[in-house]
Amino acid sequence: MKILLGVTGGIAAYKALELTRLFVKAGHQVQVVMTSGAKEFIQPLSFQALSGHPVRDSLFDANQEAGMGHIELARWADQIVIAPASAETLAKLRMGRADDLLTTLCLATDRPIMLAPAMNRLMWRNAATQENVAVLKQRGLDILPPASGEQACGEVGEGRMPEPQAIFEAVMHAEKARLQTQQAGSELKAFWQNKALLITAGPTYEDIDPVRFIGNRSSGKMGFAIAEVAAKAGAQVILITGPVALPTPEGVKRIDVRSARQMFAAVQQHYAAADCFISAAAVADFRVEQPASQKLKKQQDVEEMTLTLVKNPDIVAWVAAQDNKPFVVGFAAETNDVVDYAKDKLRRKKLDMICANQVGEGQGFERDDNALTLLTETSEKVLPTMSKHELAGALLRFVSQSMQG
Ligand code: PMT
Repeated sequence: MKILLGVTGGIAAYKALELTRLFVKAGHQVQVVMTSGAKEFIQPLSFQALSGHPVRDSLFDANQEAGMGHIELARWADQIVIAPASAETLAKLRMGRADDLLTTLCLATDRPIMLAPAMNRLMWRNAATQENVAVLKQRGLDILPPASGEQACGEVGEGRMPEPQAIFEAVMHAEKARLQTQQAGSELKAFWQNKALLITAGPTYEDIDPVRFIGNRSSGKMGFAIAEVAAKAGAQVILITGPVALPTPEGVKRIDVRSARQMFAAVQQHYAAADCFISAAAVADFRVEQPASQKLKKQQDVEEMTLTLVKNPDIVAWVAAQDNKPFVVGFAAETNDVVDYAKDKLRRKKLDMICANQVGEGQGFERDDNALTLLTETSEKVLPTMSKHELAGALLRFVSQSMQG
């Protein structure tokens, strides 16, 4: 791997020498970029001797620009690591400043960036630093939490740079995870490219009157995550969704509906062209028989009100009963005996596969993570708690294996 190691001004800069040695010993190529602050603490020559490359430190160096310009240096790297990353560097990265070589490189790259912050404990705890860290994390930078202990300034607390071995291992781990994700992405593409996938997501709303409705607790996140991952893998995705507050994933055709009957009509229109139908929506089993056309008034002295509910069509069971049915995947949201109830639904609705999830307070719906048990008549796979996007990838892999027999 080609590693661009940024060293910024801080007493921990000397530890970056050991980090360079660990990378080189493991067979990686290292080029070091130092800020002017870093050079106050340590000699560039030491890094040059360990890395076998001259240290880069200037944005405007005629000699170096003639050889490898700063943009080329950004392209050269597979991974950028900044250790130590000073409070100043975090602030500059957050602002998108480009007033030295290191920050310019970070702006001019699409490669992964890992930061190992190191500073005085109060500087680390300062709201400005914490906010900078939060924003950088949100933008996808890997930030290693600093260690706790005695600091060079004599104080004790959080802010020490993690040991070089720990940073080395974190970089290797991140690289392995990236390769696995890439491989998983290619596997998904191999199957899903140009497959037609129909997905339902979100709740349905069954109106009582123009202002009230009966609904289900579903944010749509699970179904939208499946749609997004499948579209990235090249599938032609149609997503039929109940009322949710989520943006449409790129490359996905979205159809908005409100009630179960509207969802049913949209599914009836599109199921025949689909290779696979995934029913992640939380469909209301019943609707109000006679929704009022005007807002129902609260009548004085009336303590009870009765609504007559009638059954909604079972959308997924209907698709599974068609002669020209696609591969049909249902979900089972249960609060107890999750797998048993799911197996029963798999058989009763004649599905090819069902994804069982436990729902309730703090589980299943509305959250960004979930856990699923995937079931077919002959196989079972437990997916522990992970992000709904990760689950979507694992689920689509399992579906592709099941579809291929
Ligand atoms: O949207 P999130 O906040 O991310 O939450 C995700 C989820 C918990 C809603 C999702 O993972 C999930 O479990 N969806 C299905 C919820 C549900 O309604 O389960 P059910 O056990 O009631 O229904 C079983 C299956 O029949 C489901 O595939 C459902 O879509 C389908 N169904 C149900 C009733 C009906 N009238 N028509 C249907 O098609």
